[in-house]
Amino acid sequence: MNAYVITADTIATMADPHGYGLIEAGAIAVENGRIAWVGPLADLRAPFTALPRRDYGARTVTPALIDCHTHIVHGGNRAREFEMRLNGASYQDIARAGGGIISTVTATREASEADLLAAALPRLDALIAQGVAVVEVKSGYGLDLETELKMLRVARALGVARPVRVITTFLGAHAVPKGMDADSYIDTICIPALHAAHAEGLVDAVDGFCEGIAFTPTQIARVFDAACALDLPMKLHAEQLSASGGTALAAHYRALSADHVEYASDADAAALASAGTVAVLLPGAFYAIRETQIPPLAAFRAHGAAMAVATDWNPGSSPLGSILLAMNMACTLFRLTPTEALAGTTRHAARALGLTDCGEIRAGMRADLAIWDVRSPVELSYGIAINPLYARIFGGVL
Ligand code: NIG
Ligand code: FE
Repeated sequence: MNAYVITADTIATMADPHGYGLIEAGAIAVENGRIAWVGPLADLRAPFTALPRRDYGARTVTPALIDCHTHIVHGGNRAREFEMRLNGASYQDIARAGGGIISTVTATREASEADLLAAALPRLDALIAQGVAVVEVKSGYGLDLETELKMLRVARALGVARPVRVITTFLGAHAVPKGMDADSYIDTICIPALHAAHAEGLVDAVDGFCEGIAFTPTQIARVFDAACALDLPMKLHAEQLSASGGTALAAHYRALSADHVEYASDADAAALASAGTVAVLLPGAFYAIRETQIPPLAAFRAHGAAMAVATDWNPGSSPLGSILLAMNMACTLFRLTPTEALAGTTRHAARALGLTDCGEIRAGMRADLAIWDVRSPVELSYGIAINPLYARIFGGVL
């Protein structure tokens, strides 16, 4: 049996719905990859007192972080579009002119599985280096059966190549491919590709992009009906650039999450809360496309909708390779509290992925832990482009 105890001056368990769940001079007993006990060291009792110990001293232990929304598998980059936006073009202008998501589709179709894996690994490694133990990865830059499956196989391969859990999301309804209309794309390519990907065991969740430049709620509903028939959970890019009805749709289908949600209304916030759908905030995309509409935090709080925070790492709207910077941006740009930001990359991020065994430090959870060279968890959101990770424990492995 692999069992040990770690101790540290500060443990932010995140097991308290209203705060960090702080334990000072704390101890965590780990057995066979799971947390067996957590509490003040003074309360540690047999049999755990007999286990080998490792003391992290003045440092802070948190649950390992979870990046619950990424597109880290993709070909090429969109640096040229960054220049175009600096010269006055908007994200939507570029998309309508055939750039945007469609230009990444071309690059991703051209790349081999090995190319895509080689490009994605350093992205994954950058997240791991910030204490991320669970990463969600979407398809959606294929828009044909072959490439959507290729992306998802690469996402699965990432979870084999590194000691992290990768949750795969089928995002066939991301954009309309050139030369097709949206309805026939959904019916003749997207839904059959979902069935094929599911048959190969490649799909953990199903996502879409509900927006004027992408798909209507009616079109997304067809994809969600297919997901329901396969018993797959749903997520949705909703209310990112305009109020398009995606958040209400996600809540109606009791989706795991509605993501972006800048243009969500008070009624949307109420619907998310009563459906238990998590609002995933993506400040990297807000920042990069210079959005000015801030998500309705007060409504999310008032109605009790859970808020997660993620990088949305993608080559277009959010080339952001840092979960810690996403937390800082969520505080500075959206006015989340540092407590909400850390809950957003731990407890609520787990919920946004449908995971119930991580995101908190309490008995029975996986021993996915991050040990930081900071005295208070506030410092994780406070620093800008600072990485204070000291050590990580994923699945109990030091
Ligand atoms: O989450 N909103 C749609 N999808 C991505 C953008 C993808 C891209 O620009 O390549 C997002 O922002
Ligand atoms: Fe996204």
